[in-house]
Amino acid sequence: MSTATLEADDKILSKKKGAIGHLIVNNPEKRNAFSLDMSIAAAKVMEDFLGDDAIRVIVISGTGDKAFISGADISKFEQTRATKEQIESYNKTSERFRILMKDSAKPTIAMIRGYCLGGGMGIALNCDLRICTEDASFGIPAAKLGIGYAGDRLAQLVDLVGPSAAKDIMFTGRRVPAAEALRLGIVNHVVPAGELESFVESFANTIANNAPLSITSSKRVIDEYLKDSDRRDNALCEKVVADCFASQDYVEGRRAFMEKRKPKFTGR
Ligand code: COA
Repeated sequence: MSTATLEADDKILSKKKGAIGHLIVNNPEKRNAFSLDMSIAAAKVMEDFLGDDAIRVIVISGTGDKAFISGADISKFEQTRATKEQIESYNKTSERFRILMKDSAKPTIAMIRGYCLGGGMGIALNCDLRICTEDASFGIPAAKLGIGYAGDRLAQLVDLVGPSAAKDIMFTGRRVPAAEALRLGIVNHVVPAGELESFVESFANTIANNAPLSITSSKRVIDEYLKDSDRRDNALCEKVVADCFASQDYVEGRRAFMEKRKPKFTGR
């Protein structure tokens, strides 16, 4: 595994293993609470992964066995998220990482162990897929802190679980256990704690070995179809599908099938 730490404080780590880029939130003393500085560092790591042709799948995780991310770092709210101006600036700065995750042409997976709360849940929801351990739990304790959630952030929750479960989660601020999270559609897979890394590695490699343009096109089309029809970019949907059919990978895919061998996709 090649390891490169891009940011001071070592609170956000970046590791590359084959075609998988790992972004690791490394603040275990605070259950991986996520500060604004960490959001800036995480955006840089995302930009690095997105610009690296060797990386095909991005996995986000937290250090240790207690938490994926326990949410925004509440201890910094007094200095960074108290006044109206600070809140605006906080939202603007943290938005960058969120947009990079949401708009990433490469598939993203949240690998979740332990607590996935508040902003941590936001990060997980901005990933395409979520895989967690049996002891993971999920929640948005906004109502316990007096925090309001903007429409686009809540829309992601509603898209996954529907309005009724979204209201349960937001009104109570309770922790949803892994089994319920699976039933609600918050997570794709729940695995025993000892198998998380190996499961995610195998799952991510399955995706990494598939045709990148096909995956990007599915991602774009699905995400566009979640939007209201008047905001949907139909031209983009048509373009990403046309890109697949015009690609060398489509030639390679059918040739490999006929020759009874595994295809070698390049993303072109
Ligand atoms: N921001 C800042 N510090 C946090 C934090 C957060 N989101 N979550 C945990 N911490 C800190 C705690 O204050 C504690 O610090 P201390 O050792 O200086 O007292 C340390 O991390 C360990 O947390 P602790 O509560 O003792 O661990 P726990 O295992 O009993 O509980 C949590 C873990 C995550 C359930 C609990 O810490 C918690 O509820 N955190 C807040 C979650 C939250 O409201 N998130 C939404 C933020 S928008």
